[in-house]
Amino acid sequence: MLKNQAIRTMGTILITGGAKRIGAQISLHLAKSGYSIAIHYNHSHKEAQNLAKKIRHYKVRCEIFHTDLTNNEEVAALIPAVQKKFSNLQCLVNCASIFENSSLLTENLSDFNRHFSIHLKAPFILSSQFAKHSKRGQIINILDTNIVKNKTAHLSYLLSKKSLANLTSLSAVELAPHIRVNAVAPGLILPPDGKKSEYLERLAKHIPLKRKGEPADIAKAVQFLLENTYITGQTIFVDGGEHLI
Ligand SMILES: NC(=O)c1ccc[n+]([C@@H]2O[C@H](COP(=O)([O-])OP(=O)(O)OC[C@H]3O[C@@H](n4cnc5c(N)ncnc54)[C@H](OP(=O)(O)O)[C@@H]3O)[C@@H](O)[C@H]2O)c1
Repeated sequence: MLKNQAIRTMGTILITGGAKRIGAQISLHLAKSGYSIAIHYNHSHKEAQNLAKKIRHYKVRCEIFHTDLTNNEEVAALIPAVQKKFSNLQCLVNCASIFENSSLLTENLSDFNRHFSIHLKAPFILSSQFAKHSKRGQIINILDTNIVKNKTAHLSYLLSKKSLANLTSLSAVELAPHIRVNAVAPGLILPPDGKKSEYLERLAKHIPLKRKGEPADIAKAVQFLLENTYITGQTIFVDGGEHLI
């Protein structure tokens, strides 16, 4: 904790799905570096409140914002709500996600719609709102190392993340020169619901660096993209080399 120091005045970063897991690590890491943090959450109200308390110890501002990203009207209201509280919104990090099994044979349209709402439609609406309201800044989309592969076990998940990768490139071109748009593609970082860390450690034996990564590795990549002002349209794979094989 930084004692006897006034609130710092760097830009504000909005992180969707920022209350838990990788999103929380990004929130904390950027707060430690002096950025103000707008934490978006859906169900994790308590976690968002607790994280906000922790973040304020770094003498930066932090507020929490509830939005169900499957609801278009709620999504469209998020950036204006953040801008009411913060005058200096600098970066939108689209991190919120679901990860569910689906295939063409088992698919029902509601699974498909939920994946595309959260991974593509919400980032599309938020990017558009961000560009209209902020005029300059950065957008960072969190993808998945598997966007370069064609694994079918989570078909709607992967298809929607591949689409978000395309949105990253298209919006990098459309929103230049005042808004940079980049992405981070994590590999084996945190186990999905119902799986333990050993599950990822087993999978990690088959990737070049032979170990799983940490949420902090993702947070550091986000900060790198945020602060390197000559990069746009780039995806950093933070995956121990998994995308290579
Ligand atoms: N975990 C990994 O190893 C890994 C690997 C590859 C890629 N990634 C990517 O990295 C990012 C973070 O991963 P993660 O595992 O930390 O994510 P996660 O735990 O699966 O999800 C992050 C947050 O997304 C929010 N969310 C889900 N549905 C929502 C909805 N309808 N409306 C609003 N928010 C919603 C949830 O917020 P609430 O809890 O508030 O409901 C959740 O805490 C994701 O984009 C993921 O695809 C992760």
